Order: sequence, then C-alpha cells, then structure tokens
Amino acid sequence: MAELSFSESNSVQRVVERVDRHAESPLHDFMLPIIEHVHKLIRETRPTHADWRKTVEFLTEVGHASDGRRQEWVLLSDLLGVTALIEEINTSRPKGATPNTVRGPFYRADAPRLPLDANISLDGIGAPLWVTGKVCDLDGQPIAGATIETWQANSQGFYENQQPDQQPEFNLRGVFTADAAGSFRYRTVRPAGYTVPSDGPVGLLLGDLGFSLRRPAHLHFLIKADGFETISTHIYDSSDPELGRDALFGVKQELVATLKPRGKADECSLDFTFVMVRAKKGRRAP
Ligand code: BEZ
Ligand code: FE
Repeated sequence: MAELSFSESNSVQRVVERVDRHAESPLHDFMLPIIEHVHKLIRETRPTHADWRKTVEFLTEVGHASDGRRQEWVLLSDLLGVTALIEEINTSRPKGATPNTVRGPFYRADAPRLPLDANISLDGIGAPLWVTGKVCDLDGQPIAGATIETWQANSQGFYENQQPDQQPEFNLRGVFTADAAGSFRYRTVRPAGYTVPSDGPVGLLLGDLGFSLRRPAHLHFLIKADGFETISTHIYDSSDPELGRDALFGVKQELVATLKPRGKADECSLDFTFVMVRAKKGRRAP
C-alpha cells in the first residue's frame, strides 16, 4: 500500500510522486529540483506560521505592484543577483570578448537611426561627452557595418521614458552604424547614477535589509552584427563612488571606462572597444 503519512523526512518524496513524469511538460527538469530545494529551505529555516504569513503577504504585494509598466518580480530577481547569475550562466564568453549584462527596463526598440557624429542629447542639458568606439572580433579585425544602439540616463539620473513630460522623446537614445574601420562616434552628455525604484515592496524590503539600491553612472549598448553574438551591455564611469555597490551586480572590470577631461570646463570623452564573438550554430542571440 502506498505511503499515506506526510513527514519532514518524506515530504519531498510525497510531493514528487504526484508529478506525472509521463505528462509532456518542459518544466519537469526545472520544477522537481525547485520543490526539493524549497522543502530543504523550510526544514533548515523552520519558519513559524507568522513568518510564513508575512512571506506570503510580501509575495502577494510584489504581484499586485507588477503590471504592464512596472515589473517588481524582475526587480526582485535583479536585486537578489538572480538575473545577473542567469546572464552569467547563459552568455559566458571567451577571455577578451565583451561580456553581457542585463538589458533593463528602460530600453526602447524604436530609437532613431542617426548619422555618425550626431548628438543624442536633444535638450543639451548636462556636461558634454564625446563617445568614440570600435567594434571588432576576437582577432582585432574591425566589424564594418555593426549596429550600435545606445541609451542612457540624463545628468539627473532619469531615462527619457521615465520623464515623458520633461525630456524630449528619444532623448539620449540612438542607433549608429560602424564605418568601414568598425568605428563609431557620437555626442551626448555625461549620465548620472540613479536609484532603482524604491517605493514598491521590493525596494522597501531590500532597502530595510541594507541592500544598495544605487546604480553607478553608465551607458547602455546593444551591438549587433551578422554572424556574431549580440552584445547587450553597460559601460560604467570609473569615477563613480558606487561602482563597487551596483544594486544589480552588473559591474565587471572589463566594462569600466575612464571619462577623460577634454578641452573646456566640464567636457569629457570616452573611448571603448567592443569585442564580438562569432555566433555558434544553434546558439540563440540573447
Ligand atoms: C538599467 O540600468 O537601466 C536597469 C537595469 C535593470 C533594472 C533597473 C535598471
Ligand atoms: Fe541603466
């Protein structure tokens, strides 16, 4: 006769035996270890009824705070380092190649294509920044025609789509095409760092726990070229004091760059080389 009792020692087995392994579900391999780990966690941490009620209340609030415009679940995954870990597992690259980081919620797929040398700061507010760069392969060969898509926060730390009434549409966004030498250049303003949303359940709880909610100043890039893995990454300002405490664990030494003073007062320049890896057959672009 099948086991009827449910105890600490057989709880995993009692739940797992309910799973119909013949049912076709791509989730079997993923869900079974999750069930096992959750039971182990509960056995080890031994929450009281009240602890568990609070946990369920928190998760309920996270769900209620999420909608088409705001994603608290993604923020929870980001702040716990889970998104960065998934990125690591799925897109680790050979030494010398530019690593990927999370794309984040402020990307817009419809940014305008612009000629080289264009200024993406449409309101001209902030310290001028000249960006130059190159796209090449692991052998240092230029990748002519690569697409360079960039987006960034303004000098106050806000993206254009966070302030639709205060910033011009597509401010600080643009799509460029590398020239025959794989080079690109454009003008912008120096971005400021910012705080990830802190007014929802995730920001409030993790803030109370002492987690940093700050992101150091950075520029986002999405680099595409035929036959190469797409790079989705950030370039961080080396002078930002929050560099070691990025809320999203996105900073990597290879992605830190120095903004050098250039001519007049507050002007500066940034130069960066993106190194792409040839796409393996069957490997999806992120
Ligand atoms: C960002 O840097 O734009 C970002 C990425 C993930 C979560 C929040 C912000
Ligand atoms: Fe950002």
